[in-house]
Amino acid sequence: MTKTTRVSRISGFHKLTPAERLEAVAAFAGLEDSHRQQLAAPGNLDADLADHMIENMVTTIAIPVGVAANLKIDGVDVLAPMATEESSVIAAVSNSARQCYEAGGFTTSMSGMEMIAQIQLLDLPDPERTRLTILERREEIAEICNDCDPMLVRLGGGFRSVEARVLDTDGGRMVVTHLIVDTRDAMGANAVNTMAERLAPRLAEWTGGRPLLRILSNLADRRLARARAVWPVDAIGGAGVRDAMIAAFHFADADPYRAATHNKGIMNGVSAVVLATGNDTRAVEAGAHAYAARDGRYRSLSRWEVTAEGHLSGMIEMPMAVGLVGGATKLHPTARALIAVAGCDTAEGLARLIAAVGLAQNFGAMKALATDGIQKGHMALHASNVAIDAGAVGDEIAMVAARLVEARSVNVNEARSVLAELRSR
Ligand code: MEV
Repeated sequence: MTKTTRVSRISGFHKLTPAERLEAVAAFAGLEDSHRQQLAAPGNLDADLADHMIENMVTTIAIPVGVAANLKIDGVDVLAPMATEESSVIAAVSNSARQCYEAGGFTTSMSGMEMIAQIQLLDLPDPERTRLTILERREEIAEICNDCDPMLVRLGGGFRSVEARVLDTDGGRMVVTHLIVDTRDAMGANAVNTMAERLAPRLAEWTGGRPLLRILSNLADRRLARARAVWPVDAIGGAGVRDAMIAAFHFADADPYRAATHNKGIMNGVSAVVLATGNDTRAVEAGAHAYAARDGRYRSLSRWEVTAEGHLSGMIEMPMAVGLVGGATKLHPTARALIAVAGCDTAEGLARLIAAVGLAQNFGAMKALATDGIQKGHMALHASNVAIDAGAVGDEIAMVAARLVEARSVNVNEARSVLAELRSR
């Protein structure tokens, strides 16, 4: 067999239309026709718009969006749009929310809407003095930052404060300036990055230092979303279930191996709403995990305890840098429509909703793990995917899935043989 040499240097690739790029990609990868047609199929995102959103765009990928029901947040009934490829996630949120609905649902709050931008200064002989020199310039710094974004200032946001830190690093001492900026309904990355870049040469002028990095921090710990809820002990199956869930929490809080999985479950809910609303999943995820490790040990993002009345009380507090203006939240028509479904007219409202979803998700996972185990519920939903994978269509999907669950054997080989048997009848 002759091996063709494939060349990834495609001259002018970025200048091609999406259709032309797809042709080039198909030729490069030797795509069979079915794959080429799949990639050429339109989704509910216009190809021209998608082409403007990113570089070298060739296609879009559709992820199912479901809606979690039964959420009552701060006394108001809410539906949460969630984009996820994982079965059980939306069912878990809906079931968890149902179990605390009558008791009042979720209470949420937000620490503020402030983002942090960092400016790194090097080559300073006297970093401690430099730190104070920077802090003395607070008024000028405020003016430089606010001049970058008069609209943000008109909307009630803008510069809030400046901090300077001396860092001891393997490369020597450096001074890091933090700009604290209220970005209101924007996630704020562009706003604070612009301010950091504008300010850096002035810091060099004032201090004699050499500015290097100028970028936001995703550890958005001045933008913490909080949610809490109480699940009545009778609604969750009694004191045994409650105590098992508390033991599950203690395990996660004490052990990073478990905490990573526990927090991944929280992010199943969080990232699904972040994605559905066109927000930056990586920013929220980076912030969540950095915050979980803020004590020097990676811990649970949620906390669980027993109330004086014996009910199960859960709370979550985590960075939630999401916005409603700018980026895909504004451009992507499906994200805009889903923000309307969520009924959020402020970024704070959305952040608080997401925190409640994260807590509900965590409740669902902990309860399943501490009682029946995760596979029972998960496999029932997963079985449909396996049935589809095995080739089932239409009514066959539910029939095959039911047989797999009944046999407690949810795998594609079993699905194929069940399907073959069904079709031979
Ligand atoms: C699976 O996607 C999420 C869980 O592993 C979360 C957890 O273990 O808490 C079930």
